[in-house]
Amino acid sequence: MTALTLKPAVAPGPRADAIVIGVAKAGTGPVVAPGAEAVDQAYDGGLAGVLKTLGASGAEGELTKLPAPAGLDTPLVVAVGLGAEPEADAGYDAEALRRAAGVAARGLSGTKKAAFALPVDGPGALAAIAEGVLLGAYAFDAYKESPKDGEAKDGSGPLGEAVLLGGEEGEAGFQAAVDRATAIGEELNRARDLVNTPPNDLDPEAFAAVAQAAADEHGLTIEVLDEQALKDGGYGGILGVGGGSASTPRLVKLAYKHPEADKHLAYVGKGITYDSGGISLKPAGHNETMKCDMAGAAAVFAAVVAAARLGLKVNVTGWLALAENMPSGSATRPGDVLRMYSGKTVEVLNTDAEGRLVLADALWAASAEEPDAIVDVATLTGAMVLALGNRTFGIMANDDAFRTSLHEVAEESGEPAWQMPLPEHLRKGMDSPVADIANMGERMGGGLVAGLFLREFIGEGITWAHLDIAGPAFNEGGPFGYTPKGGTGTAVRTLVRLAEQTADGDLG
Ligand code: BES
Ligand code: MN
Ligand code: ZN
Repeated sequence: MTALTLKPAVAPGPRADAIVIGVAKAGTGPVVAPGAEAVDQAYDGGLAGVLKTLGASGAEGELTKLPAPAGLDTPLVVAVGLGAEPEADAGYDAEALRRAAGVAARGLSGTKKAAFALPVDGPGALAAIAEGVLLGAYAFDAYKESPKDGEAKDGSGPLGEAVLLGGEEGEAGFQAAVDRATAIGEELNRARDLVNTPPNDLDPEAFAAVAQAAADEHGLTIEVLDEQALKDGGYGGILGVGGGSASTPRLVKLAYKHPEADKHLAYVGKGITYDSGGISLKPAGHNETMKCDMAGAAAVFAAVVAAARLGLKVNVTGWLALAENMPSGSATRPGDVLRMYSGKTVEVLNTDAEGRLVLADALWAASAEEPDAIVDVATLTGAMVLALGNRTFGIMANDDAFRTSLHEVAEESGEPAWQMPLPEHLRKGMDSPVADIANMGERMGGGLVAGLFLREFIGEGITWAHLDIAGPAFNEGGPFGYTPKGGTGTAVRTLVRLAEQTADGDLG
């Protein structure tokens, strides 16, 4: 994990290896964004012209490096595109700043210390920049013999230190913004590490051990149900999915409590450490990235730890439903009937529809505590990827107002999401001649069918939402903005923001 340190400051202080400035796109060409006045002066006020000569336009994602003139205490100026210049009086959009900071941080790999002189009109802008820097500087090189750019393999990451200009060092609002971004950024990057860790090194037992270590570090209560405890408790869904693997399943309950909290949120994550499909084996071409099938559990884990680090006035319980879905002589067969933790029976028609089975047990366990709301997060269906693409997750819920709130929370966190329905007519496709329900229904609308299945395992009267993150959880394309290749950490920021808003009494 990157050990990047963030510091708000008024002046760059001691010499930096680079200074990052913003360039916006105006009708007349590139314009230098506020915050870069001193840099512009060092070019005698001609920086915009220099940038134009170099072909810069200020478009989002654009990165231009130029040598610094004498008089600046740095050898390198890094100009990053912010997109269209905002209307007079309006500030730069938080997500534009986050992305630009991420692009710059990615472009600064191998740099020890960089100053960021992007437009800051208050703590919110500084927080967005801080988040973008931390998330953009992420690199996963634990398995590389010689990390990129010949950096020492000491875990220090590609960019060592970021000085964030425009804030007031020591001033409460600015320091708090950077502290919040640091807690969220570090835990989100840890979720990415978990997703990127190869499945031979991260089985359910290993994941549970990571949760145990974090619980010890942050004073969380933790309960780990191992295979025997799952058998004793009657968790037929988790056991049925994990039964084919040499690595046994786990159900982890991780609880953060605030002494003055008056609300309780339960977060439930799908934690399939590898999804081969089981006996309904996935064909080659569909299993290469299936180490990402625990991204929901990683997001839940990161969000609970972040809530604890932020000391939020709300109780948050995370449930990690961990299993490896493998084919073997002890694996569940298509045709088997499982008796779930809730007592319902499920006919397994396709062992590749395993996420809903582990989630069903965890959702029922979470329901028993009667939280104010449950949110589950899961790389659940290929159908949701077909519907919404690779960057947007789907939100389903048994409560329209809660679904709308979650959508707003996601968008304001910088996580693209869209609301999806749970059409009642799709339920009968899961009727089974032998069991209470089958784990598959109609193919069309498969993401919604999966949501309807989960709904059956929510306790009476409990508000619930389901985030299907199968698309955005793992980036198979090139890096963009502050999003790296591989694990993205999607949903972490939405879950943390939901906890913050619940703590502030802004929801329900
Ligand atoms: N883990 C997959 C869903 C998935 C697909 C995640 C693509 C990430 C990227 C899930 O367990 C699965 O296999 N779902 C099946 C369900 C079907 C058999 C009803 C699917 O979507 O094909
Ligand atoms: Mn599957
Ligand atoms: Zn799966």
